[in-house]
Amino acid sequence: MDVRVVDHPLALARLSTMRDARTDNAAFRAALRDLTLMLIYEATRDAPVATAPLHTPVARTTGYRLASPPLLVPVLRAGLGMVDAAQALMPEAQMGFVGLARDEQTHQPVPYMESLPESLAGRPVFVLDPMLATGGSMEHTIRMLTERGATDVTAICVLAAPEGIAHLERSGLPVRVVTGSVDERLNDSAYIVPGLGDAGDRQFGAV
Ligand code: URA
Repeated sequence: MDVRVVDHPLALARLSTMRDARTDNAAFRAALRDLTLMLIYEATRDAPVATAPLHTPVARTTGYRLASPPLLVPVLRAGLGMVDAAQALMPEAQMGFVGLARDEQTHQPVPYMESLPESLAGRPVFVLDPMLATGGSMEHTIRMLTERGATDVTAICVLAAPEGIAHLERSGLPVRVVTGSVDERLNDSAYIVPGLGDAGDRQFGAV
């Protein structure tokens, strides 16, 4: 499985802001937005382009656009903070939504919402979820997508745990991961260490 770690100095700086326990909700959301821009930028580096002739004020030249903009699928609620940046870079991208809660005892994903196009055959999909922890939620989400025919899925994550990456590798699902860091491990509560805490609470406050 292809795992790309975006370790650009600006990405490291935003990630450090997000990790810092003193960062408030607003500053955390701003850093998440900036880091997501960088993750999407890297995730689309090798995307196929379509060309068409265009005229500048000076001359004729070639224009470029993404040949097939990905479907953006934020995983609610923590993925919501990544939507604005992804849409800013790809305004033409369509969106689907997946809602997954986490059972705090079993750490298993509990689905509560699925709003996706009927067919995803031939369509690239970007799943937006800041934390790839156990990999259970991501596997669940990708299975929802592959059941609809998706074969080209990219998980865009701020942080990944080695356990989550190994889980996805074992699943054999058609996914690659673009992340800001592969951290050390999970703790007994399935939080990423050193991590950044609960990505939903850090954005929106504890509810
Ligand atoms: N989800 C989070 O928000 N944080 C973690 O560390 C793990 C899962």
